Amino acid sequence: MEQDMQQILFTQDQVAARVQELAAQITRDYAGKTPLVVGVLRGSFIFMADLVRHLDLPLTLDFMAASSYGAGTTSSGLVNIRLDLHDDIAGRDVLLVEDILDTGNTLSKLVAELKGRHPASLKLCVLLDKPERRTRPLEADYVGFTIPDAFVVGCGLDYDQKYRQLPYIGVLKPSVYE
Ligand code: PRP
Ligand code: MN
Ligand code: MG
Repeated sequence: MEQDMQQILFTQDQVAARVQELAAQITRDYAGKTPLVVGVLRGSFIFMADLVRHLDLPLTLDFMAASSYGAGTTSSGLVNIRLDLHDDIAGRDVLLVEDILDTGNTLSKLVAELKGRHPASLKLCVLLDKPERRTRPLEADYVGFTIPDAFVVGCGLDYDQKYRQLPYIGVLKPSVYE
């Protein structure tokens, strides 16, 4: 797998350390509350699992699945909700967890949808932020790492459904997808 990487952007240890910092901040910010942590499948599953294990809070978990159409390296702009939440979120403090905020298409669609359900609060937590690519005016409340516009995989992020399981964030060699 590592032979397919041009560069390791963040090692397993660096990711783990940053996730712990984010978790400490979220634990402080949500003190006294019982957030509903919502993971966006499939990309968020590893970050979500790592993050919640470091939250020192009572919380509940749920999942949505969203996918943009196509198997290319760029998001198409058409976002499809494939799985909805199990429970009503009215009055809940919802923390939406994503692997990456890229163009913002996915999260703006989900934020608009969830806001209409009247949560007490709605915040966004992303492992990676790629602000250069943003086409929607959207910022996350918690960001692990801000990254340049490179094609990254690992820690839940895929290329053509592969590489999600890598414990680091790597930049894929262009020869792999060209
Ligand atoms: C990826 C990623 C984010 C989204 C970010 O998901 O996991 O959900 O794209 O891009 P955006 O900000 O341009 O919308 P993808 O649609 O590839 O589905 P996946 O999570 O199943 O890989
Ligand atoms: Mn995703
Ligand atoms: Mg994907």
